Amino acid sequence: MSQINEKTTHVSIIIPTYNESQNIISMLKSIAEHIPKKISTQTIIVDDNSPDGTGKIVEEYINNFKKIKNYTIDVIHRKTKSGLSSAIFNGIQKAKGETIIVMDADHSHPPQIIPKMIESLKKSHYDIVIASRYVKGGQIKDWTKSRKIISKIATKIAKLFLNIEQKDPMSGFFAFKKNILKNSKLDLIGYKILLEILVKTKDVKTLEIPYTFTDRKIGTSKLDRKIIFDYLKSVWKLYRYGKKVKTNDIQSTSFISKAARFYTVGATGLIVNLFTSFSLVSIFPDIWYMHANLTGILFSISSNFILNKFWTFEDKDFSKKKALSQFFKFSSFSTIGALIQLGLVFYLTDAQNMPYHISLILAVSVAAFGNFILNKKFTFNEKLMD
Ligand code: GDD
Ligand code: MN
Repeated sequence: MSQINEKTTHVSIIIPTYNESQNIISMLKSIAEHIPKKISTQTIIVDDNSPDGTGKIVEEYINNFKKIKNYTIDVIHRKTKSGLSSAIFNGIQKAKGETIIVMDADHSHPPQIIPKMIESLKKSHYDIVIASRYVKGGQIKDWTKSRKIISKIATKIAKLFLNIEQKDPMSGFFAFKKNILKNSKLDLIGYKILLEILVKTKDVKTLEIPYTFTDRKIGTSKLDRKIIFDYLKSVWKLYRYGKKVKTNDIQSTSFISKAARFYTVGATGLIVNLFTSFSLVSIFPDIWYMHANLTGILFSISSNFILNKFWTFEDKDFSKKKALSQFFKFSSFSTIGALIQLGLVFYLTDAQNMPYHISLILAVSVAAFGNFILNKKFTFNEKLMD
């Protein structure tokens, strides 16, 4: 019976490969050397049917590999080159570890810092640990000037459009807790899976630790014009995603607060309405109660409109034309409400012999209900349920 020590950390290291036949074996050896023995590690190579035979080389290596305790290597063979982010994601799906590490096969990412990354996730309660070129102590070796500039611009774009706080959201070397992804749907366009994870996971704690990125000695980078284009495409998608999440938040809170405001205004209107209706009856004993109520209604419509426009719906359009047309709609809906109210008051008072006070309160309540819905939709042009 196998015993799993609760304290053992299970780590899955994902390495995407495309034409890395000259790098991958030395990379696997280097990783094995630097992983502490007490950590149980699964390394997953995700190969896209590399023409140089990377997948086959890994397969042979696994078959001849002497079993080391707590250390396994798996390979995923994909039929065609289908992008870095999706390769990494396929690896994540197959990962058994609760901790995931993503890194390149070309020795640009030093496995020496892996223990520190795991430690930070475990002990300090971070959810994502990014190996960063752009925090103090981090650097890039052997990159051309133009590649450095492209990287800087890409990072600036992410900061600007996606409100990213991290210094190196483009890093291809990072560790995270697998469960942070359970509620996110990723698009997996292009190269930048970390960026997408940072945008789409909420309330996660991230840490950046410095490292030195060294450009590959063997083989070539797969970054090309298409990948730069993909990058812009994914920033655009993530930007729209961010906007959608934000407006949903604003609208859902404001629906509640707008309804609350509308009914508060309604209550003040009710006071204006009742006060006017009662006052007129007591000041002018000869006035017909229906006239008194009609005046009360007109007064309350006006005060309600002003308060709802400026306060409830925060309508900052002060132009006369707009305000007048809104007032027209608002009064029309109020008139419909008022007609219902008058009809009800008349019916309840005269036909049902209810006391005027009671029938008035009942009628006002019924009319107020329809008003909120109609005005939200037609006067202030908002969606009903948002
Ligand atoms: N399976 C698979 N499919 N692997 C791929 C693909 C693909 O379509 N494209 C690239 N890879 C693998 C490479 O074989 C390598 O192991 C790793 O992904 C990174 O590819 P490179 O071509 O070496 O990328 P780079 O060095 O230009 O960029 C690296 O550094 C950037 C930092 O600016 C990557 O780590 C980027 O993710 C990172 O943003
Ligand atoms: Mn590289």
